[in-house]
Formats: sequence, C-alpha cells, structure tokens
Amino acid sequence: MSEDVDMIDVNSSTTKENHPPTHSKESDATSKTTTVTKHTPWLEKYRPTKLDDIVGNEEAVSRLAHFARQGNLPNIIISGPPGCGKTTSVLCLARQMLGESFREAVLEMNASNDRGIDVVRTKIKMFAQSKVSLPKGRHKIIILDEADSMTEGAQQALRRTMELYSKTTRFALACNASDKIIEPIQSRCAMLRYSKLNDEQLLKRLIEIAKAEQVSYTSEGLEAIIFTAQGDMRQAINNLQSTVFGFGHVNSENVFKVCDEPHPILIRDMIGKCLKCELDEAYKAMNHLWRLGYTAEDILSVIMRVTKTYEMSEFMQLEFIREIGLTYMRVSQGVQSQLQLSSLLARLCQKAKTNAH
Ligand SMILES: Nc1ncnc2c1ncn2[C@@H]1O[C@H](COP(=O)(O)OP(=O)(O)OP(=O)(O)O)[C@@H](O)[C@H]1O
Ligand SMILES: [Mg+2]
Repeated sequence: MSEDVDMIDVNSSTTKENHPPTHSKESDATSKTTTVTKHTPWLEKYRPTKLDDIVGNEEAVSRLAHFARQGNLPNIIISGPPGCGKTTSVLCLARQMLGESFREAVLEMNASNDRGIDVVRTKIKMFAQSKVSLPKGRHKIIILDEADSMTEGAQQALRRTMELYSKTTRFALACNASDKIIEPIQSRCAMLRYSKLNDEQLLKRLIEIAKAEQVSYTSEGLEAIIFTAQGDMRQAINNLQSTVFGFGHVNSENVFKVCDEPHPILIRDMIGKCLKCELDEAYKAMNHLWRLGYTAEDILSVIMRVTKTYEMSEFMQLEFIREIGLTYMRVSQGVQSQLQLSSLLARLCQKAKTNAH
C-alpha cells in the first residue's frame, strides 16, 4: 500500500478521523478495520459520528440528542428527502446510546437486505429475542433503513413484533416517503421529519471539508455546487469531490462541467432576453443549450431555479413561474420537444410585453 493509506481501527475511540461506521453483526467480519485512502469518498470520510456534528434540522436532532441523554428511546420514524442525514442520525443515535455495545445490540437492515415477511418472522424476531447485556434502561436497537421499500406484508408482520419485544428492543425507521409506512406502524412511532438543508448550512459544511482537504476554490465555485445540490448534502459533497478530482480547482465553470447542468449564467441571459421581449435572441440561447445535448427537463429545472431568484417584479415572477410550471408538466407527461421550450419563450415574451404596457 502506498504512503497515503492510513489504517484506522474503527473500535478505537481515540481515532480522530470520521470513518464509515460498522453497524450490523454481519458486517463485522469484513470491517474490523476501515481503510481511509486518498480516494475514500468524502461522503464517508466526513459522515458525522456524533449527533452534535449533524448539520441542520436542529429541532429533530435535538430531540434525538434528548433521547440519547435520557437513554429511553421510543420507536421512531425519521422521514425526509435524500441526503439530509437520516441514516447518519440514526447511526449516531445508536452509537451514542449504546457505546461499546453498539456491535452486539444493533441490527441494521436496509433496502439491500431482503426484508420480506420471512425476514421479519425470522431474523428480526430472533434478534429481538436474543439476550444482550446492556446497562440498565438501555434497549437493543433495530434500524430499518429505507423502510418505505419494505413490502406491506413485512410491515404488517412488524406490528405485533414491535409490541411484543418493546421491553428489550426499540425500532428506528428511516424513509423518504412516510406515507409508504402503514398507519399502524406510524401510530406506534414518534415521527421526526427532516427537511432539505438550506444554502448556509451546505456552504458551512463545504467550507469545512474544503479546508480540511486543502482544496483550491472560489466562492462562485461553492455557490455553483450549492445551486446544483438543491439542499442535498450528499450531492453537494459528492460534487465537490468530483470537481476537485476532475479539475483540481473548484470554480463555477468546472462545477457545471462536472455536474453537467446548463450554466445558470446562460439561462439568466435567456430570461433577461425574454423580459426585453427579444424572442429571437432568447431562442438562440435555448437552441445553443439544446444542441449541447441537454434535455428539456434539464433546461427547465435550471430556468425555474434561476427565475426564483431573478430580480424582477413579483407579479412578473409569478407569471413566469406559472408558465414554466405548465411547460414542465407537459414535458413530464412525455412531450420532450424543443417546440415546447420555444413556446415557453414566446409566452414569457408575451407576458413581459403585456405587463410593460
Ligand atoms: N445533515 C448532515 N450533516 C452532515 N453531513 C451530512 C448531513 N446529511 C448528509 N450528510 C452527508 O451525506 C452523506 C449521506 O447522508 P445520509 O446517508 O445520512 O443521507 P439520508 O438522509 O439517509 O439519505 P437517503 O434518503 O438517500 O438514504 C453522509 O455520509 C454525510 O457525509
Ligand atoms: Mg439513508
């Protein structure tokens, strides 16, 4: 192995590096030690290991911290959009509550495991029945990550299991769509809702990582990453790493090359042209993007995000957003043609013109 490789013992509490946690008994054999190399994904390298380090969703995280301090965890469901820290929070909570016993007392199952009704009947039940000596008042924790992909039958089978073993075992579910969790399970759990992270929260974390990795960056570069990530921390960190590995320097040009989105500056220009009723010029800009190979959805999603922050009268902004939304609907129904985008530009010019009079 080369010199940029450090071997880290994940059991050692003295290690300062953040590292991927090992959670299930199954993974024990393969992950006694985790190798952090120059090429370890930053997502894993900078995955928070303590609840305090989790960015955003302060209220929900403080409730989790409260459970951890008290030692009494109810069954919980954490729901929210991708990449906002749900899995990370559950793992931090389990680690904080169980400390040394984390390995024996936690069963983690995610969508990569088979989680049909049989697994609930056998594996989950067996784990719930197994004896693990824990400090007084602590419980074993079963983490069901991506729980919205569990079949309904499996969820039904879980109902009674949750109650029968509630003296010794608690369940922590994480999911994107809480409505895919059947009502009876929801009623047995405390629900915590996570939301997307805001720009400041993303920026703060990106700067921390960029400093730790000695990345050369410009503030426009980080802004571009935040623009493309849309509140998803996973995507933000991934895009930062991809840009650094691809180009060595994070500026807005490089970020948009890596993320392969239409550059917002071009889109801004195009909207500016519509506001001045210059349809021909606006069409040229759109045609240019189309020939670069972007789909109607790619272009529309950037048009929408740019319009939301474009300085124009509120009335006009609302009119524009409505037209963009309508076009988005048609495109998502399958009409992916350039004609749709041209018609959008024509309607935007028309709005600008009627409003000017
Ligand atoms: N709130 C956060 N604070 C710090 N890092 C975060 C946060 N959210 C996500 N991350 C980073 O993104 C990575 C993925 O986060 P995580 O697995 O917790 O997302 P998730 O909410 O479970 O998403 P999914 O719904 O796709 O499962 C983590 O490894 C971490 O590096
Ligand atoms: Mg997750």
